[in-house]
Amino acid sequence: MKVLVTGGSGQLGSYLLDELMKNHEPLGIDLREPSIGEHRPLVSRVDIRDLIGAKKACEGMNVVIHAAAQVSVEKSVLDPRSDADTNIIGTLNMLEASVSAGVKKFIYVSSAAVYGDPQYIPVDENHPKTPKSFYGVSKLAAEHYVRTYGDCRGLGYVIVRPFNFYSPRADPMSPYSGVITKFVQWARQGKPIMIEGDGEQTRDFIHAKDVARMILSTTESSIKNEILNCGSGRGTSINELAATLSSLRGGLEIEHVGPRTGDIRHSVADVKQATEVLGLRPEISIEDGLASFF
Ligand SMILES: NC(=O)c1ccc[n+]([C@@H]2O[C@H](COP(=O)([O-])OP(=O)(O)OC[C@H]3O[C@@H](n4cnc5c(N)ncnc54)[C@H](O)[C@@H]3O)[C@@H](O)[C@H]2O)c1
Repeated sequence: MKVLVTGGSGQLGSYLLDELMKNHEPLGIDLREPSIGEHRPLVSRVDIRDLIGAKKACEGMNVVIHAAAQVSVEKSVLDPRSDADTNIIGTLNMLEASVSAGVKKFIYVSSAAVYGDPQYIPVDENHPKTPKSFYGVSKLAAEHYVRTYGDCRGLGYVIVRPFNFYSPRADPMSPYSGVITKFVQWARQGKPIMIEGDGEQTRDFIHAKDVARMILSTTESSIKNEILNCGSGRGTSINELAATLSSLRGGLEIEHVGPRTGDIRHSVADVKQATEVLGLRPEISIEDGLASFF
C-alpha cells in the first residue's frame, strides 16, 4: 500500500515510517528534515497549510495518516490563531487533498486533549468533550471535519486519540517536552527530578512505537469510521515514574515544587474498544520504555 505520513519527521511519524517500511511503500511530508538517515529520501518538505503542496503529496496514495500538528498546549494558549491554522486549516487541506486523490482511508491522529478534565476514569470514547486548551479545541474541531468528510464526501476515516506517548525520539530541546523527556534529561544531567505538586497525579503513558503499531494495524485492517482511544489502559503516578527512573539510574534526587495551575489530576484511557477492534495491546512496559532512553 502507498501510505502518506504527515509529520513524517516527528516523533510518532518516524516510528510510523519504520513500521510501514517493512511491508508498504510509505512517503512523508513535514516542515523539517527527518533526523533518521534512512527516512531522508522518503520525506519531502511540504507545509500542510499549503493546499497545492498537500494535493501533490496525496496523489497516488491509498492511505493518509495525518500526524502533523502544532503539538504544544502552551503555545496554543499564547497563539490560538497559529494553532488553528496548522491543526484545523492544515487538516482541512489534507482532507480536501485526500478526496481529490481518491484516498481510501484517512487516519487522523487526534489527542486525549479533546476530553478536557476527566469526569470519570478510565476515559472511554463517549466521554464528554470539553477541551481545556486551544490545542484541545483545534484537535476536536479537526475531528469534526474528519467525521463530516466521511459523511459528506464518503472518505473512510479512523480517528485515533493517543493519551501521553513518549520515546527517545521526542525533541528534548523543546520547551514543551513531555514529563518523561524532561525527567530523562534531568537524570542525564545529574540534576534533581522536579515533581510539580504532590506527584500523585496519574497519566496514561504509552511508548510512541506502540502507538505506531496500533496505527499500522488500523491502516492494514478493514475498519472504517471508528474512533479509538490509544493508551496503555494503566495510570502511572508521577511519583511512580520518578521512582522507576531513579531505580534505573541507581538513585536520583527527587524534589517537589508547587503544583501547576489547572493540572488534570488523573487521566487513564479506557482501551476496551481499541483492544476489541484491533486485537492489539501495547508491548512496551513503562520500565522497558524508560530503559530504552539509556
Ligand atoms: N506526544 C504526545 O504525547 C501526543 C499525545 C496525543 C496526541 N499527539 C498527536 O500526535 C501527533 C504527533 O505528535 P508528536 O509527539 O510525534 O509531535 P512532533 O512534534 O514530534 O511531530 C509533529 C510533526 O509535525 C510537523 N509539522 C508541524 N506543523 C507542520 C506543518 N504546517 N506542515 C507540515 N508538518 C508540520 C513538525 O515539524 C513535526 O515534525 C500530533 O498530531 C499530536 O497532536 C501527541
